Amino acid sequence: MNEVLSVRGLTIVFPMGHRTIRAVDNVSFSIAKGESIALVGESGSGKSTIAFALFNNVPQPGIIESGEIRYFQGGNFLEMGQASQRQVFWEKVSMVFQAAQNTLNPLLRIRRQVEDIAQAHHVNKKVAIDKARELLSTMYLDPTRVLDAYPHELSGGMKQRVSIALALLLDPEIIVLDEPTTALDVISQASVLKILNEIRRQRNISLIFITHDISVISQVVDRVLVMYAGSVVESGLVQKIVRDPSHPYAKGLIGSIPPLVGDLSDVHGLRGNPVNLLSLSGGCPFADRCPDVMTRCRTDRPLMRQLSTGNAVACHLYDAEGEEVRT
Ligand SMILES: Nc1ncnc2c1ncn2[C@@H]1O[C@H](COP(=O)(O)OP(=O)(O)OP(=O)(O)O)[C@@H](O)[C@H]1O
Ligand SMILES: [Mg+2]
Repeated sequence: MNEVLSVRGLTIVFPMGHRTIRAVDNVSFSIAKGESIALVGESGSGKSTIAFALFNNVPQPGIIESGEIRYFQGGNFLEMGQASQRQVFWEKVSMVFQAAQNTLNPLLRIRRQVEDIAQAHHVNKKVAIDKARELLSTMYLDPTRVLDAYPHELSGGMKQRVSIALALLLDPEIIVLDEPTTALDVISQASVLKILNEIRRQRNISLIFITHDISVISQVVDRVLVMYAGSVVESGLVQKIVRDPSHPYAKGLIGSIPPLVGDLSDVHGLRGNPVNLLSLSGGCPFADRCPDVMTRCRTDRPLMRQLSTGNAVACHLYDAEGEEVRT
């Protein structure tokens, strides 16, 4: 496998007074060239915190307690100097932030924002504008109109496509997209995802989607990691996860997606409230909400096991099955 990113044992904490929140707890995953994966989980499960760690920029007062991040099979990114980090991130890896449409500078025309990116990365401005024209056309946008516009002159869907075009400007090999379509209507969502998939095929880039909505991205990703309370609870090929989830949380998450056709009475939500990270004990983080909870779930943390279905799952229901996965 031509691995372009490997994350091992990533743990991120937020000290809150005399308590500490483990927002990301021993998370490991990797992605190959040209592959598309998704981190899926409900609000507060640690998805954006992982995205920030990917460029060593966890928000205050967060601390990366342990873990390694390696791009392109190189050294540990977290231990590199800032100049080397910048060469890897932004130039080979780019990020479309959650609510990216609001990250465009409202005071500057898009043309100027392209030029600023070019200047920051020592790229000729004219070359960058030509490249932006090509990318905006790929996004089904009129390049001249968009380059001359201020962000407020564009619709939400257009701004989101502009943000993605800007993320492609430096020819990245990996793009991290945090909730790239959440703010869009269903039609714009589908068209943005279709474009991203086309670009992935043309350029063989790797995409990391971060989303709470597995149904939206299931057509465009190869593999899914389901997160709960900072941990990966199940991972596997998207078809396997969607059709045959094993973890009770993943089952609940998939079961809560309304079908396009069929009986809505089959839709059941997850019971209980999202986890309070301050009240987590040593056992399984999902124990309080789990319909299949057993005594040991309250005390022992389940380890990730590889099942014969191909999925890996961290749940005591499967303790007698498969091999433990080393993380
Ligand atoms: N700046 C911060 N200060 C304190 N705690 C934080 C901060 N940012 C994140 N956290 C903690 O980390 C947890 C995970 O937050 P994160 O933003 O990564 O979740 P998310 O999965 O991206 O959620 P959403 O779907 O709402 O975007 C939060 O529940 C919170 O406890
Ligand atoms: Mg988030």
